[in-house]
Amino acid sequence: MLLGRRILIGVCGSIAAYKTAWLVRLLVKAGAEVRVVMTPSAEKFIGPLTFRTLTGFPVFSNLWEDQEDMNLTSPHIHLAEWAEIFFVAPCTADTLGRQASGRAENALDAVMLSARCPIALAPAMDVEMYRHPAVMENIRVLRSRGIKILDAESGPLASGLSGEGRLPEPEILFQEIVKLLGVSDFWSGKSVLITAGPTRENIDPVRFISNYSSGKMGYALAREANRMGARVTLISGPVALPPPTGVNTISVTSAAEMLEACLQHFPKADITFMSAAVADYTPANPASEKIKKQENAFSLPLTRTTDILKTLGQQKLPHQILVGFALETFKEEEFARQKLEAKNLDMVVMNSLRSPGAGFGVDTNQVSLFFKENKKTELPLMSKQDTAIAILKHSEGLK
Ligand code: CTP
Repeated sequence: MLLGRRILIGVCGSIAAYKTAWLVRLLVKAGAEVRVVMTPSAEKFIGPLTFRTLTGFPVFSNLWEDQEDMNLTSPHIHLAEWAEIFFVAPCTADTLGRQASGRAENALDAVMLSARCPIALAPAMDVEMYRHPAVMENIRVLRSRGIKILDAESGPLASGLSGEGRLPEPEILFQEIVKLLGVSDFWSGKSVLITAGPTRENIDPVRFISNYSSGKMGYALAREANRMGARVTLISGPVALPPPTGVNTISVTSAAEMLEACLQHFPKADITFMSAAVADYTPANPASEKIKKQENAFSLPLTRTTDILKTLGQQKLPHQILVGFALETFKEEEFARQKLEAKNLDMVVMNSLRSPGAGFGVDTNQVSLFFKENKKTELPLMSKQDTAIAILKHSEGLK
């Protein structure tokens, strides 16, 4: 769910720091890259070695010591720039106070002052400290500067008292981070089937019919769906791309092989994206030996391949979402709508070869999305990665 997301965790000196070890474990397990920065007081409650072992990276905890093992000259600046989000849990009254007055006394303070990414703090302290007007005022000041401050939970506290001031459980903190990163849990646990790339239809053992599809759009969809938490099966024609990490990639060559793989995996799929450029025709009688040239013109009898998308559209169950792709050079909207209807689809992603920056091989794309009831959305020219994210986001509303 968090594959490749860069999360910086800050730890302050509170007994609740033991919960942060479990939080870090959950983040790493979800695929995130995690770095940890600690205050000197935090080290009295939990050892940097714990976090170093869980994350696989050195912990930043001392502004003044040689940071040789981090291999960085200004780790506070580097970490602040690296992070997509800086999440401090537990955050003490002392750290709140220093941040409210803009001080940079320790490593954690310095990173927080340098950070441009979203910052969230989860306070943990005794109930009387939490309710102290100075602490309340510091929280107000920090919130007014755009820092998100979670509410502490109520319950038994380390002092033996009971009241507000508890750090929420690691699973709750994990969900907060997921929310702050804008990761929806729509895709979590969903089965997604994607086809990508061209197919090759053999003429003889040395020649084939194919097309210019690079597979980049389908691979970007597979990577992004996996990153959002889906279980992804990618059925790919021959392409020059590495299989995406964490994705079940099945390599096929011909339209017939792609059909067979799709029929096998479609029943388990919640959402299917058919971005492959499948050959519509295949040689009627592929030769087993190389065809020798002749003096005269040569013609090659072709037969129709099975329309995989249409076949799946006929088998589709009410809970399944089926998305087709269309590449057109004229009457784009008319043809896209015809496909939506004829193949029983929930959405058509239409590429026009007339749009500059869209089409084969390039890293950008400009697509229009067609839905039932004559609805349509035009996406801007974007990287194929951003286009993939937008296509996935629009698919969330299809059922
Ligand atoms: N498709 C398929 N099986 C085929 C051919 C295409 O599954 N044998 C899928 C593609 O993956 C894509 C969509 O169908 O999602 C493209 O629709 P299609 O009508 O085949 O487009 P064109 O081949 O461009 O059709 P036409 O020749 O009618 O323009």
